[in-house]
Amino acid sequence: THIGSSLMTIPESHEMLRKTCRDFADRELKPVAAQLDKSHQYPIDLVKKLGDLGLMCVEVGEELGGSGLDSLAYAIAMEEISRGCASCGVIMSAHNSLYIGPLVKYGNEKQIDQFVKPFLHGERVGCFALSEPGNGSDAGAASTVVKEHDQSTYVMNGTKAWITNAHEAEAAVVFATTDKSLKHKGISAFIVKKGTEGFSLGKKEDKLGIRASSTSNLIFEDCVFPKENLLGKKGDGFKIAMTTLDSGRIGIAGQALGIAQAALDCAVDYAQKRQVFGKQLTQLQAIQMKLADMEMRLQSARLLTWKAAALKCQGEPFTKFAAMAKLAASECATFNAHQAIQILGGMGYVSDMPAERHYRDARITEIYEGTSEIQRLVIAGNLIKEYSA
Ligand code: CAA
Ligand code: FAD
Repeated sequence: THIGSSLMTIPESHEMLRKTCRDFADRELKPVAAQLDKSHQYPIDLVKKLGDLGLMCVEVGEELGGSGLDSLAYAIAMEEISRGCASCGVIMSAHNSLYIGPLVKYGNEKQIDQFVKPFLHGERVGCFALSEPGNGSDAGAASTVVKEHDQSTYVMNGTKAWITNAHEAEAAVVFATTDKSLKHKGISAFIVKKGTEGFSLGKKEDKLGIRASSTSNLIFEDCVFPKENLLGKKGDGFKIAMTTLDSGRIGIAGQALGIAQAALDCAVDYAQKRQVFGKQLTQLQAIQMKLADMEMRLQSARLLTWKAAALKCQGEPFTKFAAMAKLAASECATFNAHQAIQILGGMGYVSDMPAERHYRDARITEIYEGTSEIQRLVIAGNLIKEYSA
């Protein structure tokens, strides 16, 4: 792996990537993040700029026109971009890990030509549709149905819920069952293009945080599409979803680290300037205790995230570490954002300062790509398996 043997440092190439992403975030994202949040405005120009930087195809091989970077690079880029704007972070992660990821891994040449190559540089985005109104955590209970329509087409009926990038996506990876009696083994993955007859979008959800990203239902009513859009093998959909989420959780861990770091940045900056009882806030031990806890949780979660990424880079199993990274980083984000507001006092509660946005943005990281409860199930399940082996 590229990670230094001690896990204390990252390679120079990755430090350079961090710097590039940090400079971009400081220059282009941080100054507009509050306004994007307020206006719920999808940042189309910024997504193009992320594309120009190679951040919309981070782990795609250079032979396909991608950036050819590894999972550690992806985690680092996700952290730095989300430190500037968490909405941009989720747009980037849904596209990279959840749309492009399974297509590159399971797609055939024709599917890659049609659905990956034109989506590499921010010109088009994709989305990933697993959750439904009736089941999110229980992803194996998918009730969107696909049936054979004629020799060359399928027909899809059902509704997918909470889909990130829904309104901008030119194509979706959609999970649906061809035989509900087979439970998760009846699920397959399909690629559905925007504009296909019978495919429409629900209203944009009005969210607590990550408000510049769109989230909405995908609705399929007798939606007919070519059989060649089956991704991977019939019946392999659940495994495709699970392996995709393993990688995706490293990205969301990165997003959560970015939010946690931004909250700490904001808290330290304020504490250095604010005087109370004739002292700087940073001189008060009660405040120092909070800053110490924030930094410790952040550094711990970052190491777990890098470890998950390193295992993936080495081709080792990483399901448990990705779940631990996502859990630790998301809980750190909500903790740090909570403490940041406390340190800022009244100024933490108003939108003149970014602390309240970090608090709102942090919350989703404990819900999507598997709630904290689901991460604990995944961790425990893998742990018990290790002991039983
Ligand atoms: N890799 C490969 N295979 C896996 C796997 C993994 N990580 N996890 C499970 N499987 C396989 C199992 O080996 C098993 O295979 P067999 O049928 O061959 O035995 C099969 O899948 C079923 O496994 P389980 O019995 O463990 O499955 P389950 O029904 O109990 O569900 C779960 C497991 C972990 C709870 C899963 O349903 C899950 O992850 N739920 C959360 C869903 C989720 O994260 N959704 C996120 C949507 S995307 C999103 O939110 C987007 C965004 O952030 C922008
Ligand atoms: P439920 O599954 O109904 O869970 C409700 C509560 O019960 C939670 O606390 C949960 O942890 C708990 N619970 C459930 N099962 C168990 C259990 N076995 N043990 C203990 N506790 C349990 N999905 C996509 O497919 N694609 C996307 O792009 C996408 N983007 C999203 C963006 C946003 C802003 C949001 C809000 C959601 C997004 N999701 C997406 C959906 C997200 O993944 C789900 O909301 C999440 O997986 C939880 O599912 P649910 O909302 O149905 O909650």
